[in-house]
Amino acid sequence: MIDLTDKVVLVTGASRGIGAVTAQTLHKAGARVVLHYGQGQVEAETIAAQLDPDRVALVQADLAAPGAANGLWQAAIAPWGHIDTVVNNAATMPAAPVEGDWEPWSTAWQQTLQVNLIAVADLCRAAIAHFQRRSGGTLINISSRAAFRGDGPEFAPYAAAKAGVIGLSRTLARAYAPGVRVYAIAPGFVHTDRIEQVMQEKGRDYVTKDIPMGNPADPQDIANLVCFLAAGLAPHATGATFDINGASYFH
Ligand SMILES: NC(=O)c1ccc[n+]([C@@H]2O[C@H](COP(=O)([O-])OP(=O)(O)OC[C@H]3O[C@@H](n4cnc5c(N)ncnc54)[C@H](OP(=O)(O)O)[C@@H]3O)[C@@H](O)[C@H]2O)c1
Repeated sequence: MIDLTDKVVLVTGASRGIGAVTAQTLHKAGARVVLHYGQGQVEAETIAAQLDPDRVALVQADLAAPGAANGLWQAAIAPWGHIDTVVNNAATMPAAPVEGDWEPWSTAWQQTLQVNLIAVADLCRAAIAHFQRRSGGTLINISSRAAFRGDGPEFAPYAAAKAGVIGLSRTLARAYAPGVRVYAIAPGFVHTDRIEQVMQEKGRDYVTKDIPMGNPADPQDIANLVCFLAAGLAPHATGATFDINGASYFH
């Protein structure tokens, strides 16, 4: 049912974790994928090497630099001249403890808002202008359960930025329908290397105790939903936020 042949999809943060699995899954469904990475050139090249070279492109950009998303957009559109779907997946999560000096607190806030919210908004802006010159397009913004229930105290910038992604997505969905569809996905714990490390450091129960499903989600769950949305199979779901958290809100 899901056929993304001839679709061009940009996935930010595709060098590892959810972004890497998402890029691979989109490619498997027939899409041409633009893999964005920040520091992980080797990782991104390793993933790209497993894909059909005619349907993969790599772009680098440090989204912590203000305005970097504009250069990323230009580089991403170059290989095929257009983009149908943007998956805003890249994110950072530096700790900002209330206790301690102001400088590291402020740096963590600035960096998190820049990467997780402002760069997302910048890419949405560039994509909308492009979509309006074409027959439309799709934005899929990866938020987090933290947007709705908060996070650990040192990760307030992360939760705040992810809540901002929800407000951004809903606003754009309302403003630019019907041509532009905008979806948000809000995962709870997802079994990436980072979460595996958390489980090793704090114990498996720290991650799973609030999840009736009993384990963190597989990154494939998020990737499958991205493919479904990118295929245009539920246009009237625009503006929606899709929770993928193993029923943890209801525990
Ligand atoms: N894993 C979870 O449990 C979970 C839960 C809820 C929401 N999410 C969300 O799902 C998305 C993916 O999460 P993940 O766990 O797969 O992340 P991850 O493994 O930590 O990977 C983050 C990705 O973002 C990129 N990135 C980070 N900072 C960047 C920067 N300054 N410039 C450019 N790229 C940057 C990284 O690229 P490089 O390594 O190449 O620099 C990497 O590809 C994120 O939006 C995250 O907030 C994850």
